[in-house]
Amino acid sequence: MNIQNIRHVAVIGAGSMGHQIAMLAALGGFSTTLHDIREDALHDARNKLEEIMGKWVSKGKISEADKEAAFNRLSMTTDLQEAAGQADFVIEAVVEKWDVKRDVFQKLDKIAPAHAILATNSSTIVSSLIADATRRPDKVLNMHFFFPPLVMDCVEVVKGEHTSEETAQITMDVCHKINRTAVLLKKEISGFIANRILGKLQQEALFLYENGYADFKDIDLICTKALNHPIGPFALMDLSGIDVGYYVMQQRYRETGDPAHKPPKSIEEKVKAGHLGRKTGRGWYDYTSSEKGVKS
Ligand SMILES: NC(=O)c1ccc[n+]([C@@H]2O[C@H](COP(=O)([O-])OP(=O)(O)OC[C@H]3O[C@@H](n4cnc5c(N)ncnc54)[C@H](O)[C@@H]3O)[C@@H](O)[C@H]2O)c1
Repeated sequence: MNIQNIRHVAVIGAGSMGHQIAMLAALGGFSTTLHDIREDALHDARNKLEEIMGKWVSKGKISEADKEAAFNRLSMTTDLQEAAGQADFVIEAVVEKWDVKRDVFQKLDKIAPAHAILATNSSTIVSSLIADATRRPDKVLNMHFFFPPLVMDCVEVVKGEHTSEETAQITMDVCHKINRTAVLLKKEISGFIANRILGKLQQEALFLYENGYADFKDIDLICTKALNHPIGPFALMDLSGIDVGYYVMQQRYRETGDPAHKPPKSIEEKVKAGHLGRKTGRGWYDYTSSEKGVKS
């Protein structure tokens, strides 16, 4: 098999990541189906994509005709069979919970054609922890996009020992076709490259905040001014979702048993309070203010 055989792409999970990954696939010329168990998630996905693509057209990034053509290649359904039954390539982007992902892969294995590649967009879970839920471990791997996928030009493609060379190569080619820079990791490691490095930064930022060395806003300020980071670690947690980071920490802690990997108290509190960042209007910062959009 090679990239020429990949025509239909299915994206499973239409949340912050999935809807934009599906749009990338449709823009890249693939017939694409986006699936979610929640009808309202698909509804929101379509609205958000229409808004973003409308902006792309007004900024001259794509033509109206290209936008229309991409939307014509994109369908949405709550029926997993309909989404994956014809798929040559599946990208799973459901909630970062190991048991949910395993369940989805088990179902996909039964539904998707035997030749289909099954990729997970997990932020941290290596595909060997999921591949054995299928009868095609050679066709399972990590394909890790960054938030927001329509903006961030990087994908970590992670090859496990179970993954075939062909699967890794086709996945790299898919990234190329959807206009994303792909980097191949030849061995699995939990969290991959970028999130391992980012995780250390966030861990240190949370340590400094929780121990009263500085306010979180000032830690963000130092990171942007002194380190020239485009965004501070707390603002970044708000952007990508505090719950997403929390699940990643929980998963890492489950895997290592190292107390240093346990989610910090302040993160537990935010998740319990439902203050998950921009998507809920409040996280570290408050986004409900009409004055500035961002209020502490
Ligand atoms: N948000 C980020 O910054 C980011 C970045 C890279 C990777 N990821 C990874 O992408 C995945 C999705 O993250 P997200 O931020 O889009 O989450 P999200 O919570 O925004 O969306 C998850 C979606 O999955 C759906 N879902 C849950 N169970 C399902 C199932 N069994 N079948 C179909 N759909 C189901 C939910 O209804 C929801 O719409 C996670 O594995 C996460 O670690 C997230």
